[in-house]
Amino acid sequence: MIASSEQIESVIIEEKCRFSQSRIWNLQRLFFNQQGTKAWSKGIVPHYVTSNPYIAACYAKLTYAYISDLIAQHSESTPTFDLQHPIYIVELGTGSGRFSFHFMKCFFDILDQSALRKIKVIYVMSDFVQSTINDWLVHPQLQDWVKKGRLDFATFDAIESQSFELVISGESISNTTLRNPLIVIANYFFDTLPVDVFSIWQGKLSEALVSISIPKEKANIDEAELIHHIALSYNYEEVDDVYYKTSAFNEILKQYKDALPDTCINFPIGALHCLQTLNNIANGALMVLTADKGVHQQSDLLFQNEPYLALHGGCFSLTLNYHAIGEYFKNNKGIFLSTTHAHASIDICLLLSGKNSADFIETKIAYELCVEQGSPDDFYLLTSAIAGKDTSFSLPQMIALLRLSRWDSAIFINNFMPVIENAGDLSDTLRQELYFALYKIWDNYFYIGEETDVCLYIGIVLCKMHYYPDALKFFEYSLSLKGANTAALYNIALYYYDLRQLDKCLDTIEQALHLQQDFSPAIALKMRVVAGMQRLKEL
Ligand SMILES: C[S@@+](CC[C@H](N)C(=O)[O-])C[C@H]1O[C@@H](n2cnc3c(N)ncnc32)[C@H](O)[C@@H]1O
Repeated sequence: MIASSEQIESVIIEEKCRFSQSRIWNLQRLFFNQQGTKAWSKGIVPHYVTSNPYIAACYAKLTYAYISDLIAQHSESTPTFDLQHPIYIVELGTGSGRFSFHFMKCFFDILDQSALRKIKVIYVMSDFVQSTINDWLVHPQLQDWVKKGRLDFATFDAIESQSFELVISGESISNTTLRNPLIVIANYFFDTLPVDVFSIWQGKLSEALVSISIPKEKANIDEAELIHHIALSYNYEEVDDVYYKTSAFNEILKQYKDALPDTCINFPIGALHCLQTLNNIANGALMVLTADKGVHQQSDLLFQNEPYLALHGGCFSLTLNYHAIGEYFKNNKGIFLSTTHAHASIDICLLLSGKNSADFIETKIAYELCVEQGSPDDFYLLTSAIAGKDTSFSLPQMIALLRLSRWDSAIFINNFMPVIENAGDLSDTLRQELYFALYKIWDNYFYIGEETDVCLYIGIVLCKMHYYPDALKFFEYSLSLKGANTAALYNIALYYYDLRQLDKCLDTIEQALHLQQDFSPAIALKMRVVAGMQRLKEL
């Protein structure tokens, strides 16, 4: 929470404003617009839990199940589907693009092997930040799907847009052009959109009007810095439960007023408006897969205080009220799937509207298997608990974990690398298993410009296994992705040293030392090499 501090002299910069119209949302937009993909490459905004291969595979299976249901429901008399037209899967607030990469890898792999392979499916990565879209357009790892007509891009603003205008094909996705149901993916997205805040006190509904103050000495601070210095306070004004223009939203408010004793709720008005727009674009046939830091049980709304802004660098999120979103779908004859158990980090929900919602059997089974019983949230909870720890995992156990993670490079670095020394001498079979595992990790790695050097780690393991030419290749990848760096150069030098190519070794050490004069491993290696060369001369 942004703390209020009574001692510091402060100035009010906003007074008694409806929460969803507060200035804080402009600060949020400013942050994303200014940062673009740096928000993820610099590690400012957390994204791992919503963008790893495990959650992407879970969504891919759910999406495939949904399409199977659509096909099963389809008949000439009651068509649910037009095979002449594509199915669009639209990702909202895509951000880094890492989730999209993992999803497409898994989903198109499933689709191409299946009986549904003739169905044309197009994935659309969208965001409201233009520079982010420009980065995806030139990302080398996305180009194959673009060439195959399976990937497109769109600028979509959850607050303003009414359609998706596709950058590559020039097509528009709107309620007049769309022929098939729409699939939407939204991770860590709805919890960044505006909410309203209400209190329920002795059966009365009041809206919380927010005031913002900042320390006086920060009065002239740059707008982008403001978020770090604001303090929020609230005033309450009783309202009647016909608050919004949309009766479906008022219905939920009334439900809360009637059912909840004293509490404070945040009402996800931004998310609800966005879902209303999407449902309109989809002509009422919509499936949404979404994960956020959220709550979905009505009991989670009891006895709450005003919302807490969780700051991530210059942006923030609020715990998302998925319960309200679920009620919105259920009240409109849709389906809301959520887990029966509590989650640790992310609440993964599936929303369905459509005429035959009761018939989505495959989708429901897939949710049961992939989320209720095999949740990415559970997997993350367990793997993060052992990350960086020297566990007693054997190499086969470690490879099994990597396989379960779908060759996740983060699991490789955080879980595998700390125990690599436990590997000991490898049997031929294990050596091969590990060798192939390393290539699968590389194949499944999506580069977003972050500091962690996956190529370097893979190279180091290959060196330990004496696959020197392969290792060299990865050290060279490191140089081309990251630019000249001491770690890769030093490892290349070691490679030449092992091959007794002392001239090349010395040359590479010099390059490393040119970057960092006091890099002690390189200094020590240089001494050895020089001594070795001297000995050779003396022979
Ligand atoms: C917290 S990030 C989540 C990124 C990604 N989905 C993930 O899970 O890592 C929120 C994303 O939503 C985008 N965003 C924020 N407000 C938006 C809006 N009003 N319309 C569309 N995108 C928005 C941001 O640019 C950012 O990419």
